[in-house]
Amino acid sequence: MTPPSRALVTGATGFLGGALARRLLDLGHQVRSCSRSRSPRLESLGIEQCTVDLGSADAEAALREAAQGCDVVFHVAARTGAWGRWRDYERTNLIGTRQVLSACAEAGVPRLVHTSTPSVAFRGEDLEGVDEAEAPLVLEHHAHYPRSKALAEHWLLQHAAGAGVAAVALRPHLIWGPGDTNLMPRIVARARAGRLARIGAAPGRPRISPTHIEDAVESHVAAWRALVERPQLAGSAYFVTSGETIATWEMIDGMLASQGLGPVRRSLPVPVATALAAALEVVWALLRLEREPPLTRWVVRELATSHWFSIESARRELGYRPRRSVADGLEELTRLRRQQAAGAQPADGR
Ligand SMILES: NC(=O)c1ccc[n+]([C@@H]2O[C@H](COP(=O)([O-])OP(=O)(O)OC[C@H]3O[C@@H](n4cnc5c(N)ncnc54)[C@H](OP(=O)(O)O)[C@@H]3O)[C@@H](O)[C@H]2O)c1
Repeated sequence: MTPPSRALVTGATGFLGGALARRLLDLGHQVRSCSRSRSPRLESLGIEQCTVDLGSADAEAALREAAQGCDVVFHVAARTGAWGRWRDYERTNLIGTRQVLSACAEAGVPRLVHTSTPSVAFRGEDLEGVDEAEAPLVLEHHAHYPRSKALAEHWLLQHAAGAGVAAVALRPHLIWGPGDTNLMPRIVARARAGRLARIGAAPGRPRISPTHIEDAVESHVAAWRALVERPQLAGSAYFVTSGETIATWEMIDGMLASQGLGPVRRSLPVPVATALAAALEVVWALLRLEREPPLTRWVVRELATSHWFSIESARRELGYRPRRSVADGLEELTRLRRQQAAGAQPADGR
């Protein structure tokens, strides 16, 4: 990975992919991107962009062309979110991952870093301080996103070596920070609409271990470096967090405070929230509504349980060193909001 190496990032128009692409550029590498849309910002940075729908029939040829001459592919793109049709999740996350691996194999790309998620190991119960062996990937999930991500990670790690590609999977947990497209915008929008309630709000519980965007990016760079120096790591999956645990609702209240909003005061018992989510899912399915319901059973389970992970494997094997604390990340968001309100700074601070 001596610069200038050439890297392809799928999903660089998104939160993590964009931050990773910029970091790779900063490190002196040449970066290409593949997503369905084009981004003027990537254009302005000199990032070559190819537009491709990962699940489409012609994706493999386009990906192969984009991967030509690359030393590494970071497969970050995915259909995220908590709602949608299984076939759309399957198409992008499973079929798309297969096409990315085929393209790497055919273009002779030696290494692939795949962005997975700890949700692949989530069984709906507390996961506290567990490592990859204690919380293995499960293939059966009740929601489409974790199921499609689990099938994709499993398939990729089973087949990459046979295709001649050294691959690892990273499972960054709850990525947050400047430029967030998912977590914080959803929380803030719901709070502003008066539709946010604590679920199962026992004091100090449940607990989570979020990942600041800079740490999520560094874990990807570390994984690439590790694959170069220690090819025997290929086939492994790693939990990634910023190495700190915090009560879920303390984190949510902190995010709201950073945006000038008060803490969540209403609360719902878990059984009530679950029944409400189930009813909403039925109505949404019957009416074939595409936008996400205000609550799903998967989101209730995620909010009502602890999930925090040991990152010892990533530290030991990848040399990953998280640097950003929750407190300093929240201060940064507060500062950026004030600068933005004064018209001085874009939302992600760059
Ligand atoms: N954010 C988190 O908290 C979190 C936590 C754990 C794991 N992850 C994983 O991290 C990765 C990035 O997440 P993110 O939060 O950065 O998501 P994001 O902001 O929603 O970005 C998703 C990216 O994927 C691209 N994409 C989606 N569907 C596509 C398709 N059919 N073909 C080609 N490109 C497609 C999107 O670009 P276009 O729309 O332009 O196509 C976008 O660039 C995902 O693999 C996700 O599973 C995220």
